[in-house]
Amino acid sequence: MTVAVACPGSFDPVTLGHLDVIARASARFDEVVVAVLENPSKQGLFTIEERIALLEAEVAGYPNVTIDRFEGLLVDFCNARGIGLVCKGLRAVSDFEYELQMAQMNQRIGPVETVFLTTSPEHSYLSSSLVKEVARYGGTIDHAVPPRVAEALRAKLS
Ligand code: PNS
Repeated sequence: MTVAVACPGSFDPVTLGHLDVIARASARFDEVVVAVLENPSKQGLFTIEERIALLEAEVAGYPNVTIDRFEGLLVDFCNARGIGLVCKGLRAVSDFEYELQMAQMNQRIGPVETVFLTTSPEHSYLSSSLVKEVARYGGTIDHAVPPRVAEALRAKLS
């Protein structure tokens, strides 16, 4: 059975880009664990509980996908659960250099392997930070996040 940690990240908030990668990982692996980073030194817009609740609602239709949270090193989270594989989305060349560095570090210190799915082109410009910035100034975000998340963003920023 192949288990992968998919899209480890802050998910502040989850975007359609994340969900695209999670859906495609769920079709490729037997089990998928989405790991939400809890970073006490970084104040998010949404609390960790809110980010997890939004994600859980969005992945409810995938029986082999679960959400978990982690602090510290991703490899420690993976090793504690006996998972040797991480699956991440690659949006553009600009992602590549940093992702390659992290993948090689994780391979060395884990050892945890990383595989990449290329982001679907319609989502390649999306990031949680940009979505928040657009939302903060009242721009349209319905193309970028699911309706439930758009609603939560509007409520949070109102
Ligand atoms: O959504 P983000 O915040 O851009 O995701 C970054 C993330 C979580 C993938 C990366 O920062 C990470 O893996 N952090 C956990 C700490 C860690 O393992 N650092 C060493 C990376 S080689």
